[in-house]
Amino acid sequence: MPKITILPHPDVCPEGKTIDDAPQGVSICRVMLDHGVNIEHACELSCACTTCHVVVRQGFSSLDEATDDEEDLLDRAWGLTSTSRLSCQAKIAGTDLTIEIPRYTINHAKENH
Ligand code: FES
Repeated sequence: MPKITILPHPDVCPEGKTIDDAPQGVSICRVMLDHGVNIEHACELSCACTTCHVVVRQGFSSLDEATDDEEDLLDRAWGLTSTSRLSCQAKIAGTDLTIEIPRYTINHAKENH
């Protein structure tokens, strides 16, 4: 099973985390939540917000392609990169992944910055 490495995030995952036995076909967001990494997920994983945005630092090309709906939402995400995904939509394939949780979500950006 692929290994997911979550890079440290000051609020969500201060120490970082390694998930050794991530199930294939399950979204990155679901797996993170199931392992105690409480990334924001304001729309409950239904591709209707951007709070679950992650940057895939390794393994991006193993993921299925983003839908147009996901791309439209990602355009509004804070800190968008060329390897950004909505973690509730990106399903784990057979490859190890390294995931960075952006420092802010769009909610934080509006409230604090
Ligand atoms: S939780 Fe809202 S788009 Fe992923």
